Amino acid sequence: MITNNKKQLLSDTEVVQRIFDHIDNATTDNGNQNWKEPVNNYRSKARLDIELKILQSRTIVFCPSSALAKSGDYVARDVAGIPLIAVRGLDGEVRAFRNACRHRGVQLAEGHGCTRALVCPYHGWAYSLDGSLRSIPHEHGFPDVDKATRGLVAVACLVSNGLVFINQNPQANIEQDVLSVPKLLPDGYRLLHSSNQIVKANWKLHLESSLEGYHIRQTHKNTFFPVQYDNLTVVEAFGENSRVAFPYQSIEGLRHKNLTDISVDGRLTYVYHLFPNVVISTFPGCMQVVVLEPIDESSTQQHSYLVSDIAKHQTELLNAIFEGQKFAAKGAIEDLQIVQSAQRGLLSGANKYLEFGLFESAIGRLHTHLAKEIGRQAVSCDT
Ligand code: FES
Ligand SMILES: [Fe+2]
Repeated sequence: MITNNKKQLLSDTEVVQRIFDHIDNATTDNGNQNWKEPVNNYRSKARLDIELKILQSRTIVFCPSSALAKSGDYVARDVAGIPLIAVRGLDGEVRAFRNACRHRGVQLAEGHGCTRALVCPYHGWAYSLDGSLRSIPHEHGFPDVDKATRGLVAVACLVSNGLVFINQNPQANIEQDVLSVPKLLPDGYRLLHSSNQIVKANWKLHLESSLEGYHIRQTHKNTFFPVQYDNLTVVEAFGENSRVAFPYQSIEGLRHKNLTDISVDGRLTYVYHLFPNVVISTFPGCMQVVVLEPIDESSTQQHSYLVSDIAKHQTELLNAIFEGQKFAAKGAIEDLQIVQSAQRGLLSGANKYLEFGLFESAIGRLHTHLAKEIGRQAVSCDT
Protein backbone atom coordinates (compact mmCIF):
# COMPACT_ATOMS: atom_id res chain seq x y z
CA MET A 1 0.00 0.00 0.00
CA ILE A 2 1.40 3.36 -0.98
CA THR A 3 1.09 6.15 1.54
CA ASN A 4 -0.32 9.04 -0.43
CA ASN A 5 1.12 11.61 1.94
CA LYS A 6 1.24 14.47 -0.55
CA LYS A 7 -2.32 14.13 -1.81
CA GLN A 8 -0.79 14.44 -5.25
CA LEU A 9 -2.08 11.11 -6.46
CA LEU A 10 -5.48 9.47 -6.72
CA SER A 11 -6.44 7.00 -4.01
CA ASP A 12 -6.53 3.29 -4.93
CA THR A 13 -10.32 3.54 -4.87
CA GLU A 14 -10.32 6.39 -7.38
CA VAL A 15 -7.87 4.58 -9.65
CA VAL A 16 -9.96 1.39 -9.62
CA GLN A 17 -13.12 3.36 -10.35
CA ARG A 18 -11.42 5.05 -13.29
CA ILE A 19 -10.19 1.68 -14.57
CA PHE A 20 -13.74 0.27 -14.43
CA ASP A 21 -14.95 3.29 -16.41
CA HIS A 22 -12.28 2.61 -19.04
CA ILE A 23 -13.12 -1.10 -19.22
CA ASP A 24 -16.81 -0.33 -19.63
CA ASN A 25 -16.26 2.35 -22.28
CA ALA A 26 -13.24 0.83 -24.09
CA THR A 27 -11.23 3.97 -23.31
CA THR A 28 -7.96 4.87 -21.63
CA ASP A 29 -6.41 7.99 -20.08
CA ASN A 30 -5.42 10.52 -22.72
CA GLY A 31 -3.01 13.44 -22.52
CA ASN A 32 -3.70 16.76 -24.21
CA GLN A 33 -1.36 16.41 -27.14
CA ASN A 34 0.97 14.15 -29.08
CA TRP A 35 4.69 14.46 -28.55
CA LYS A 36 7.38 14.44 -31.20
CA GLU A 37 10.91 13.82 -29.92
CA PRO A 38 13.75 14.42 -32.41
CA VAL A 39 15.79 11.30 -33.15
CA ASN A 40 18.91 13.37 -32.76
CA ASN A 41 18.09 13.75 -29.05
CA TYR A 42 18.73 10.02 -28.70
CA ARG A 43 21.78 9.91 -30.94
CA SER A 44 23.76 13.02 -30.11
CA LYS A 45 26.78 12.77 -27.82
CA ALA A 46 26.48 16.49 -27.05
CA ARG A 47 22.90 15.96 -25.93
CA LEU A 48 23.88 13.02 -23.72
CA ASP A 49 26.66 15.10 -22.14
CA ILE A 50 24.05 17.67 -21.08
CA GLU A 51 21.77 14.94 -19.75
CA LEU A 52 24.66 13.57 -17.69
CA LYS A 53 25.27 17.04 -16.28
CA ILE A 54 21.60 17.15 -15.27
CA LEU A 55 21.92 13.78 -13.54
CA GLN A 56 25.07 15.03 -11.79
CA SER A 57 23.36 18.15 -10.49
CA ARG A 58 20.02 16.77 -9.28
CA THR A 59 18.87 14.85 -6.25
CA ILE A 60 18.29 11.34 -7.55
CA VAL A 61 17.64 7.86 -6.18
CA PHE A 62 20.83 5.82 -5.74
CA CYS A 63 19.33 2.58 -4.37
CA PRO A 64 16.74 1.39 -1.84
CA SER A 65 18.06 1.75 1.72
CA SER A 66 17.46 -1.98 2.22
CA ALA A 67 20.42 -2.55 -0.13
CA LEU A 68 22.49 -1.07 2.73
CA ALA A 69 20.73 -2.83 5.58
CA LYS A 70 23.61 -3.25 8.03
CA SER A 71 26.82 -1.49 8.99
CA GLY A 72 29.52 -2.10 6.41
CA ASP A 73 27.10 -2.73 3.53
CA TYR A 74 28.12 -0.77 0.45
CA VAL A 75 26.95 -0.20 -3.11
CA ALA A 76 29.51 1.15 -5.58
CA ARG A 77 28.66 2.18 -9.11
CA ASP A 78 28.85 4.96 -11.63
CA VAL A 79 26.25 7.71 -11.40
CA ALA A 80 26.12 9.79 -14.57
CA GLY A 81 29.62 8.60 -15.41
CA ILE A 82 31.10 9.40 -11.98
CA PRO A 83 32.14 6.51 -9.69
CA LEU A 84 30.37 6.79 -6.32
CA ILE A 85 30.08 4.56 -3.29
CA ALA A 86 27.39 4.58 -0.60
CA VAL A 87 28.11 2.78 2.65
CA ARG A 88 26.36 2.33 5.99
CA GLY A 89 28.68 3.30 8.82
CA LEU A 90 29.18 1.76 12.24
CA ASP A 91 26.88 4.48 13.58
CA GLY A 92 24.09 3.32 11.23
CA GLU A 93 24.33 6.41 9.00
CA VAL A 94 24.43 5.99 5.22
CA ARG A 95 27.06 8.19 3.56
CA ALA A 96 28.10 8.60 -0.06
CA PHE A 97 31.54 9.42 -1.42
CA ARG A 98 33.33 9.87 -4.69
CA ASN A 99 34.72 6.38 -5.21
CA ALA A 100 38.31 7.44 -5.77
CA CYS A 101 41.28 6.85 -3.49
CA ARG A 102 42.92 10.06 -2.27
CA HIS A 103 46.32 8.62 -3.20
CA ARG A 104 46.02 8.05 -6.93
CA GLY A 105 42.32 7.74 -7.59
CA VAL A 106 41.66 4.02 -7.82
CA GLN A 107 38.12 2.83 -6.98
CA LEU A 108 37.91 1.38 -3.49
CA ALA A 109 35.20 -1.15 -4.28
CA GLU A 110 32.91 -2.24 -7.09
CA GLY A 111 29.40 -3.65 -7.03
CA HIS A 112 28.07 -4.43 -3.59
CA GLY A 113 29.20 -6.18 -0.44
CA CYS A 114 29.92 -5.76 3.25
CA THR A 115 33.23 -4.62 4.67
CA ARG A 116 34.78 -3.29 7.88
CA ALA A 117 36.93 -0.73 6.02
CA LEU A 118 37.41 0.53 2.48
CA VAL A 119 40.89 -0.56 1.52
CA CYS A 120 42.31 0.56 -1.78
CA PRO A 121 43.33 -2.39 -3.98
CA TYR A 122 46.35 -0.50 -5.39
CA HIS A 123 48.61 0.36 -2.42
CA GLY A 124 46.34 -0.29 0.52
CA TRP A 125 45.37 3.14 1.82
CA ALA A 126 42.54 2.28 4.23
CA TYR A 127 39.45 4.36 4.96
CA SER A 128 36.96 3.96 7.79
CA LEU A 129 33.30 3.55 6.88
CA ASP A 130 32.78 7.24 7.67
CA GLY A 131 35.26 8.08 4.89
CA SER A 132 38.16 9.18 7.10
CA LEU A 133 41.62 8.04 6.06
CA ARG A 134 42.65 5.55 8.70
CA SER A 135 46.06 4.26 7.59
CA ILE A 136 48.74 4.52 4.91
CA PRO A 137 51.12 1.61 4.43
CA HIS A 138 54.76 2.77 4.88
CA GLU A 139 53.44 6.13 5.95
CA HIS A 140 56.97 7.56 6.40
CA GLY A 141 57.10 7.86 2.59
CA PHE A 142 54.43 10.59 2.71
CA PRO A 143 55.83 13.13 5.17
CA ASP A 144 53.59 15.92 3.80
CA VAL A 145 50.28 14.06 3.84
CA ASP A 146 47.93 15.12 6.62
CA LYS A 147 45.61 12.14 7.02
CA ALA A 148 42.93 14.32 8.63
CA THR A 149 42.46 16.20 5.35
CA ARG A 150 42.64 13.21 3.00
CA GLY A 151 39.40 11.40 3.74
CA LEU A 152 37.11 10.33 0.91
CA VAL A 153 35.29 13.21 -0.77
CA ALA A 154 31.70 13.23 0.46
CA VAL A 155 28.65 13.53 -1.77
CA ALA A 156 25.33 14.77 -0.39
CA CYS A 157 23.33 11.75 0.71
CA LEU A 158 20.02 11.30 2.51
CA VAL A 159 17.89 8.29 3.39
CA SER A 160 14.20 9.09 3.10
CA ASN A 161 11.18 6.81 2.95
CA GLY A 162 13.20 3.69 2.20
CA LEU A 163 15.33 5.21 -0.55
CA VAL A 164 18.92 6.49 -0.60
CA PHE A 165 19.05 9.83 -2.41
CA ILE A 166 22.30 11.44 -3.53
CA ASN A 167 23.26 14.71 -5.17
CA GLN A 168 26.71 15.38 -6.61
CA ASN A 169 26.19 19.14 -6.61
CA PRO A 170 27.91 20.62 -3.51
CA GLN A 171 25.27 23.39 -3.46
CA ALA A 172 22.40 20.92 -3.34
CA ASN A 173 19.60 21.17 -0.82
CA ILE A 174 18.86 17.48 -0.71
CA GLU A 175 16.57 17.75 2.35
CA GLN A 176 14.33 20.15 0.47
CA ASP A 177 14.38 18.11 -2.73
CA VAL A 178 13.16 14.85 -1.20
CA LEU A 179 10.11 16.55 0.31
CA SER A 180 8.40 16.38 -3.09
CA VAL A 181 8.75 12.58 -3.33
CA PRO A 182 5.79 10.72 -1.80
CA LYS A 183 6.45 7.71 0.35
CA LEU A 184 6.69 4.90 -2.19
CA LEU A 185 8.43 2.11 -0.28
CA PRO A 186 6.53 1.04 2.83
CA ASP A 187 8.50 0.64 6.08
CA GLY A 188 10.08 -2.69 6.84
CA TYR A 189 10.89 -3.73 3.30
CA ARG A 190 14.05 -5.78 2.84
CA LEU A 191 16.15 -6.56 -0.19
CA LEU A 192 15.29 -9.89 -1.84
CA HIS A 193 17.48 -9.65 -4.89
CA SER A 194 19.57 -7.21 -6.90
CA SER A 195 20.94 -7.45 -10.42
CA ASN A 196 22.28 -5.34 -13.23
CA GLN A 197 22.52 -5.66 -16.96
CA ILE A 198 23.62 -3.65 -19.95
CA VAL A 199 20.87 -2.71 -22.40
CA LYS A 200 21.99 -1.80 -25.90
CA ALA A 201 19.76 1.24 -26.19
CA ASN A 202 19.65 4.89 -25.23
CA TRP A 203 18.44 5.25 -21.61
CA LYS A 204 15.33 7.22 -22.64
CA LEU A 205 14.30 4.68 -25.24
CA HIS A 206 14.50 2.02 -22.55
CA LEU A 207 12.63 4.13 -20.01
CA GLU A 208 9.80 4.89 -22.45
CA SER A 209 8.87 1.20 -22.66
CA SER A 210 7.82 1.29 -18.98
CA LEU A 211 5.58 4.31 -19.33
CA GLU A 212 2.79 3.26 -21.68
CA GLY A 213 0.34 0.39 -22.08
CA TYR A 214 -0.16 0.87 -25.80
CA HIS A 215 2.27 -1.96 -26.59
CA ILE A 216 0.76 -4.64 -24.31
CA ARG A 217 -1.16 -6.58 -26.98
CA GLN A 218 1.53 -6.55 -29.63
CA THR A 219 4.76 -6.86 -27.64
CA HIS A 220 3.47 -9.08 -24.82
CA LYS A 221 1.09 -11.37 -26.77
CA ASN A 222 1.68 -14.46 -24.67
CA THR A 223 2.79 -12.91 -21.39
CA PHE A 224 1.08 -9.77 -20.11
CA PHE A 225 -1.72 -9.41 -22.66
CA PRO A 226 -3.61 -12.59 -21.58
CA VAL A 227 -3.77 -11.28 -17.98
CA GLN A 228 -3.87 -7.50 -18.52
CA TYR A 229 -5.58 -5.15 -20.98
CA ASP A 230 -4.38 -3.60 -24.19
CA ASN A 231 -3.93 0.15 -24.03
CA LEU A 232 -5.71 0.68 -20.73
CA THR A 233 -3.79 2.75 -18.22
CA VAL A 234 -4.45 5.49 -15.67
CA VAL A 235 -1.76 8.15 -16.03
CA GLU A 236 -1.10 10.78 -13.35
CA ALA A 237 1.48 13.50 -12.86
CA PHE A 238 3.08 14.43 -9.56
CA GLY A 239 5.64 17.18 -9.93
CA GLU A 240 8.03 16.19 -12.70
CA ASN A 241 7.14 12.55 -12.07
CA SER A 242 4.44 10.24 -13.35
CA ARG A 243 2.46 7.27 -12.14
CA VAL A 244 1.01 4.83 -14.64
CA ALA A 245 -1.43 2.16 -13.41
CA PHE A 246 -1.57 -1.06 -15.45
CA PRO A 247 -4.63 -3.13 -14.38
CA TYR A 248 -4.74 -6.93 -14.43
CA GLN A 249 -7.97 -8.65 -15.45
CA SER A 250 -8.23 -9.84 -11.84
CA ILE A 251 -9.33 -6.31 -11.03
CA GLU A 252 -12.82 -7.52 -12.00
CA GLY A 253 -12.85 -9.26 -8.61
CA LEU A 254 -13.36 -5.83 -7.07
CA ARG A 255 -16.60 -5.18 -8.97
CA HIS A 256 -19.60 -4.76 -6.70
CA LYS A 257 -17.29 -4.62 -3.67
CA ASN A 258 -17.15 -1.72 -1.28
CA LEU A 259 -14.31 0.18 -2.92
CA THR A 260 -13.54 2.25 0.14
CA ASP A 261 -11.49 -0.52 1.71
CA ILE A 262 -9.67 -2.46 -0.98
CA SER A 263 -6.23 -3.85 -1.71
CA VAL A 264 -4.99 -3.49 -5.26
CA ASP A 265 -2.04 -5.84 -4.62
CA GLY A 266 -2.21 -8.44 -7.38
CA ARG A 267 -4.88 -6.47 -9.25
CA LEU A 268 -2.77 -3.76 -10.84
CA THR A 269 0.82 -2.64 -11.20
CA TYR A 270 1.71 0.93 -10.41
CA VAL A 271 4.75 2.20 -12.30
CA TYR A 272 6.21 5.32 -10.70
CA HIS A 273 8.58 7.27 -12.88
CA LEU A 274 10.80 9.42 -10.65
CA PHE A 275 12.26 11.96 -13.04
CA PRO A 276 14.65 11.58 -14.66
CA ASN A 277 15.92 7.99 -14.56
CA VAL A 278 14.25 5.86 -11.89
CA VAL A 279 11.25 3.54 -12.13
CA ILE A 280 9.60 1.97 -9.09
CA SER A 281 6.98 -0.70 -9.81
CA THR A 282 4.56 -2.59 -7.60
CA PHE A 283 4.12 -6.34 -8.08
CA PRO A 284 2.17 -8.86 -6.00
CA GLY A 285 3.94 -8.98 -2.61
CA CYS A 286 6.97 -6.96 -3.71
CA MET A 287 8.30 -3.84 -5.41
CA GLN A 288 11.08 -3.26 -7.89
CA VAL A 289 13.38 -0.24 -7.97
CA VAL A 290 15.15 0.24 -11.30
CA VAL A 291 17.83 2.88 -11.91
CA LEU A 292 18.85 3.53 -15.51
CA GLU A 293 22.41 4.80 -15.85
CA PRO A 294 23.38 6.07 -19.29
CA ILE A 295 26.71 4.58 -20.39
CA ASP A 296 26.77 6.33 -23.75
CA GLU A 297 24.23 7.41 -26.39
CA SER A 298 23.36 3.82 -27.28
CA SER A 299 23.82 1.80 -24.11
CA THR A 300 22.45 1.84 -20.59
CA GLN A 301 23.36 0.11 -17.35
CA GLN A 302 20.18 -1.08 -15.63
CA HIS A 303 20.37 -1.60 -11.85
CA SER A 304 17.40 -3.50 -10.39
CA TYR A 305 16.46 -4.08 -6.76
CA LEU A 306 13.61 -6.34 -5.65
CA VAL A 307 12.27 -5.48 -2.18
CA SER A 308 9.47 -6.94 -0.06
CA ASP A 309 8.14 -7.12 3.48
CA ILE A 310 7.77 -10.92 3.28
CA ALA A 311 9.92 -12.47 6.00
CA LYS A 312 12.58 -15.11 5.31
CA HIS A 313 10.60 -17.88 7.00
CA GLN A 314 7.49 -17.27 4.83
CA THR A 315 8.84 -19.58 2.18
CA GLU A 316 5.56 -20.20 0.36
CA LEU A 317 4.92 -16.49 -0.05
CA LEU A 318 8.51 -15.94 -1.15
CA ASN A 319 8.26 -18.73 -3.70
CA ALA A 320 5.10 -17.12 -5.07
CA ILE A 321 6.99 -13.83 -5.43
CA PHE A 322 9.85 -15.47 -7.29
CA GLU A 323 7.41 -17.32 -9.58
CA GLY A 324 5.72 -14.00 -10.31
CA GLN A 325 9.08 -12.41 -11.02
CA LYS A 326 9.99 -15.21 -13.45
CA PHE A 327 6.81 -14.36 -15.34
CA ALA A 328 7.56 -10.63 -15.23
CA ALA A 329 11.10 -11.33 -16.45
CA LYS A 330 9.71 -12.96 -19.61
CA GLY A 331 7.83 -9.76 -20.35
CA ALA A 332 10.93 -7.71 -19.57
CA ILE A 333 12.94 -9.69 -22.14
CA GLU A 334 10.25 -8.92 -24.72
CA ASP A 335 10.57 -5.23 -23.87
CA LEU A 336 14.35 -5.36 -24.16
CA GLN A 337 14.23 -6.96 -27.58
CA ILE A 338 11.83 -4.30 -28.81
CA VAL A 339 13.80 -1.44 -27.27
CA GLN A 340 17.07 -2.65 -28.76
CA SER A 341 15.34 -2.97 -32.11
CA ALA A 342 14.08 0.62 -31.77
CA GLN A 343 17.68 1.66 -31.06
CA ARG A 344 18.75 0.16 -34.39
CA GLY A 345 15.81 1.97 -35.95
CA LEU A 346 17.25 5.27 -34.72
CA LEU A 347 20.34 4.57 -36.77
CA SER A 348 18.37 3.64 -39.89
CA GLY A 349 17.70 7.25 -40.81
CA ALA A 350 14.00 6.48 -41.40
CA ASN A 351 12.69 8.95 -38.84
CA LYS A 352 13.55 12.52 -37.95
CA TYR A 353 11.53 12.25 -34.75
CA LEU A 354 9.74 9.61 -32.67
CA GLU A 355 5.98 10.04 -32.32
CA PHE A 356 4.09 9.51 -29.06
CA GLY A 357 0.29 9.30 -28.97
CA LEU A 358 -2.25 10.80 -26.58
CA PHE A 359 -2.19 7.75 -24.30
CA GLU A 360 1.63 7.95 -24.02
CA SER A 361 1.49 11.21 -22.08
CA ALA A 362 3.90 10.08 -19.34
CA ILE A 363 6.58 9.95 -22.05
CA GLY A 364 5.68 13.44 -23.25
CA ARG A 365 6.04 14.60 -19.62
CA LEU A 366 9.51 13.02 -19.39
CA HIS A 367 10.67 14.88 -22.50
CA THR A 368 8.96 18.13 -21.49
CA HIS A 369 10.79 18.25 -18.16
CA LEU A 370 14.06 17.12 -19.68
CA ALA A 371 13.84 19.94 -22.22
CA LYS A 372 13.17 22.40 -19.36
CA GLU A 373 16.18 21.13 -17.44
CA ILE A 374 18.35 21.39 -20.54
CA GLY A 375 17.18 24.99 -20.97
CA ARG A 376 18.23 25.71 -17.36
CA GLN A 377 21.63 24.09 -17.94
CA ALA A 378 22.16 26.24 -21.03
CA VAL A 379 21.32 29.38 -19.04
CA SER A 380 23.66 28.46 -16.18
CA CYS A 381 26.49 27.74 -18.67
CA ASP A 382 25.93 31.13 -20.33
CA THR A 383 26.01 33.10 -17.10
S1 FES B 1 45.75 4.57 -5.41
FE1 FES B 1 44.86 3.95 -3.59
S2 FES B 1 46.46 3.37 -2.33
FE2 FES B 1 47.42 4.05 -4.12
FE1 LIG C 1 6.36 -3.83 -21.95
